[in-house]
Amino acid sequence: MAASWVEACAADEIDEEDVIRFDHAGRTFAIYRSPDDDYFATDGLCTHEKVHLADGLVMDNIIECPKHNGRFDYTTGKAKGAPVCVDLKTYPVRVEGGKVLIGLD
Ligand code: FES
Repeated sequence: MAASWVEACAADEIDEEDVIRFDHAGRTFAIYRSPDDDYFATDGLCTHEKVHLADGLVMDNIIECPKHNGRFDYTTGKAKGAPVCVDLKTYPVRVEGGKVLIGLD
C-alpha cells in the first residue's frame, strides 16, 4: 500500500491517449490517460537510456520511447520490445475532485 498520495496534476491537463511528465522530490514520473479514460503512472525515465517517456508516443496502452522506440505497457510497466528489457515501476493512481493523485512509497 502506498505511504502517501501526492497531487500530480489536474485530470483534464492530460488529453485522452496522452502522457505528461511529473517531477516530485527529485524523481520523475509519467502520468497517462488511456483510451478508456483511466489514469496510470510509471517512472518517467526509460529503463534503456533514461530518456523522458513523457516525450514519447501513447498508442492504446503502450508508451513508445522517443529515443529508440522501445515500448512498455504503461498499465503494468512491462517491457514490450527491444531494446528495452527492464520493466518500469508503476504507481497507484486515483482521481479525486478533478485532481490526479499518485501513491508513492
Ligand atoms: S532510451 Fe528508451 S528505448 Fe532507448
